[in-house]
Amino acid sequence: MGAIAQRKITVVGAGYVGMTCAQLAAQKNLASEVVVIDVNEGRAKGIALDLNQMAAVEGFRTRVTGTADPKATWGSDLFIVTAGLPRKPGMSRSDLLETNGKIIAQVAQYVRDGSPESIVIVVTNPLDSMVHLMRVKTGFPGKRVVGMAGVLDSARFCWFIAEEAKVNVADVDAMVLGAHGDSMVPVAEYCTLNGVPLPKLVAKPKIDAMADRTRNGGAEIVGLLKTGSAFFAPAAASVQMASSILNDEKRMLPCACLLNGQYGIEGLYMGVPAVLGAQGVERIVELPLDNESRILMNKTAAAIAKDVELLRELRLV
Ligand code: 2OP
Repeated sequence: MGAIAQRKITVVGAGYVGMTCAQLAAQKNLASEVVVIDVNEGRAKGIALDLNQMAAVEGFRTRVTGTADPKATWGSDLFIVTAGLPRKPGMSRSDLLETNGKIIAQVAQYVRDGSPESIVIVVTNPLDSMVHLMRVKTGFPGKRVVGMAGVLDSARFCWFIAEEAKVNVADVDAMVLGAHGDSMVPVAEYCTLNGVPLPKLVAKPKIDAMADRTRNGGAEIVGLLKTGSAFFAPAAASVQMASSILNDEKRMLPCACLLNGQYGIEGLYMGVPAVLGAQGVERIVELPLDNESRILMNKTAAAIAKDVELLRELRLV
């Protein structure tokens, strides 16, 4: 068995997404220690014990700790924040804003106090405003607070494209930008099948239908599950981002980043391609967009700005 990096990841929230993040991080030996923190201490401890026993079969070396005590998270290198209520059928992500905003504000406090050098990946919905709130409350530089959505939304688009084109999903690259909400922007011109541009293989009405299904991808699963929301793909996407940061892989992944004039937007978190490495968001990649995508990017920015305004009205930021 090889060496394992001496570092600590904290997963905040032991719901399905948090639990699966802890499992994937452990199975990939991403850190020597994974802390799972949840207000439900028994659940966090139970998941940790179960995962440690899984190590006996799977052979990973990560040690998992379950806790309800924020002090146990101190000294973390990276946080994956999943805490918060999931959507119920018919609810929009913004409906969750007040409840989850209060949770994020509490988490931000112990992140800032106990792990001042850490990097934070926010997963909690409504994603774009929760990541904004986390940055304001931690006071961390934008490059150390990033939101997970683009990898997930792109994975969904990839799957629908692979199904439609009847090819292996591993050959599909897709790019979804903008908000993690109804206004997200699946960018067909940057989708390829082993290098072949998607519009060369699939007709526009079909692409538009897949883009719509992608926008509705989270709600489709909420509707099917009846209780709770998607967790396998969201957790895999979060852990892919964590891996790129902790192992300095410099993957270019779509994620919610604080924009500083890129795409004509200032001071707002929005899904854009970014290079993730040891410093966090090391570079935001500005893609030339066609007219249609540019209009959609402006619309999605307006939707995010509305949620951030709501945070202000609720006096959360
Ligand atoms: C999703 O898209 C819950 O927002 C999450 O599945």
